[in-house]
Amino acid sequence: MGDARFRWIVEVMDMRPADLVLEIGPGSGTSLEYLARELPRGRVLAVDRSATAIDRAARRNARHLDSGRITLWQKDFGRLDPDRVRADFDAPAGFDKILAVNVNAFWTKKRPTAELTVVRELLAPDGALFLCYGYDAASSGPKPEASELTRRLAESGFATTVTTHGDLLAVRAVRA
Ligand SMILES: C[S@@+](CC[C@H](N)C(=O)[O-])C[C@H]1O[C@@H](n2cnc3c(N)ncnc32)[C@H](O)[C@@H]1O
Repeated sequence: MGDARFRWIVEVMDMRPADLVLEIGPGSGTSLEYLARELPRGRVLAVDRSATAIDRAARRNARHLDSGRITLWQKDFGRLDPDRVRADFDAPAGFDKILAVNVNAFWTKKRPTAELTVVRELLAPDGALFLCYGYDAASSGPKPEASELTRRLAESGFATTVTTHGDLLAVRAVRA
């Protein structure tokens, strides 16, 4: 089953065919189908701390796991060692794009310092972080004000651009 949120999100991300993408918290992995479609020569590393989520995402994306287009790791993003990630995923220059959809740590923590430090160290020099929030007609949940995200990102040295579409919010952040 598809999820129209991700159609908009991949548009906002302006994907290039050979991008290296890191997704934080893909949950059951519907987003990964949309990302993989845009990446004929690229690869996605998806990291989720939940074993159940990783299991579901693996079943949903088995074809792309086999081809190597998608890699799944069960890990807590804020505890990743960036040097180790670059080496183990063969991404010496870092990631072109980092995506997180409805991942609470970026706005419920007063200062998501650990998470944003890992992001900073894993982004390629011209890479961008996309923090996206929002729900489709079949679901709902908590969502930050754009200003809550942009303030936290600015405090950690990122410049931001905000885009919205219906209930969806995307904040693009690059190193200031
Ligand atoms: C609300 S769900 C969103 C799932 C999916 N992105 C979506 O929008 O449908 C949040 C997901 O992020 C994962 N998550 C939250 N904090 C995390 C962290 N620090 N490291 C890795 N995964 C995390 C959770 O396990 C969960 O699968």
